[in-house]
Amino acid sequence: MPSYPYVLLSAAVSLDGYLDDTTPERLLLSSPADFDRVDEVRASVDAILIGAGTIRADNPRLLVNSAERRAARVASGRPEYPLKVTVSASGELDPTANFWHTGGEKIVYTTEKGAERLRREPVAADVVALGTELDWRGLLRHLREVRGVERLMVEGGGTIHTQLLQQGLADELQLVLAPLFVGDPDAPRLFGPGGYQGGRLRLLETRRIEDVVLMRYEPTAPGAGDLPAAADRHWLALACELAAQCPPSQTAFSVGAVVVAADGTELARGYSREDGDPAVHAEEAALAKIAPGDPRLASATVYSSLEPCTRRASRPVPCARLILEAGVRRVVTAWREPDTFVAGADGSGMLAGEGVQVVVLPEYEDRAKAPNGHLPD
Ligand SMILES: NC(=O)c1ccc[n+]([C@@H]2O[C@H](COP(=O)([O-])OP(=O)(O)OC[C@H]3O[C@@H](n4cnc5c(N)ncnc54)[C@H](OP(=O)(O)O)[C@@H]3O)[C@@H](O)[C@H]2O)c1
Repeated sequence: MPSYPYVLLSAAVSLDGYLDDTTPERLLLSSPADFDRVDEVRASVDAILIGAGTIRADNPRLLVNSAERRAARVASGRPEYPLKVTVSASGELDPTANFWHTGGEKIVYTTEKGAERLRREPVAADVVALGTELDWRGLLRHLREVRGVERLMVEGGGTIHTQLLQQGLADELQLVLAPLFVGDPDAPRLFGPGGYQGGRLRLLETRRIEDVVLMRYEPTAPGAGDLPAAADRHWLALACELAAQCPPSQTAFSVGAVVVAADGTELARGYSREDGDPAVHAEEAALAKIAPGDPRLASATVYSSLEPCTRRASRPVPCARLILEAGVRRVVTAWREPDTFVAGADGSGMLAGEGVQVVVLPEYEDRAKAPNGHLPD
């Protein structure tokens, strides 16, 4: 399963939801202290991405302005400036734009057609063609695996933010609300029309910064099928945290589980040996809190730090069977069951054989194992 960078969308909007006005000058929405906060966020990431539309409209330099922050990056072994990234299908990029001539390394992700154009009219950047169309997952995988980017800040514009959020690839949204109106229907909006997650995002923080307000949100809706969404990673991380709450045992794993509806509503959570029951498993504890036949179960996802069990001595029905009986069709897990207590358990294989979509995210395996360190391998 590919791993992606942590993707943080950052934007400032007017009270009526616009990113800019239609004048040639860039509309300043943030306050001075908030520009400094943005500078701090930039200094904390490995790469900053903007769309070609923002290069054309704003001609930004996209730097870390604080000399102290740049020095701290260098002192910690990172480049002085984050990698600057842009995307363009057309390859129509002005080679004199500030983007290419300030800061550190630059990279353009484009199509084969765009790359052809950039060979004729080059810009001072590495050019990576991702096929006839630009695939966001391919781009994120390339950034992570080839360029070593672990944290990516995306600074617009609206076309880019919309695609990343709609495709379930944004881990976090940092939105600043500025106390002014644009009132021009031709001005660019932050999010365009299309399919977003059904339910509510999770509010992580609000912060007053002079006269603007920063809001930080996290998407909550599970991915569909075998493609993990950013929210899948967040829920699986929660399942791993729940595993740490289990009363310790020498004869059973410590496991956490969460059941989440398709719109991102948490239906239930559980962990091994919860409420003093020495035999209860995490998925069993969570499913027992949901009314049988709850219509949301059919499109829900079960997150479990360890794959659901297929055989157990303590109870007649193993968790993989409980999941099937509940009607759940998607399971996300971090850790395949080792042979510690049961040889060749293969809960993932059993569920997949019954038509359940099983997604294993091995980058969470260490977290799932952490509360089980006292058990033999
Ligand atoms: N307030 C804020 O926080 C903020 C921040 C940033 C920007 N803005 C504003 O946002 C506006 C620009 O937004 P925008 O939506 O027009 O432009 P944008 O999102 O910056 O860039 C759109 C461009 O990116 C490329 N692109 C997007 N998706 C692609 C895909 N899937 N495959 C290949 N290329 C893709 C295309 O470039 P090609 O056309 O070259 O193919 C497309 O035209 C400006 O007015 C700017 O001031 C505001």
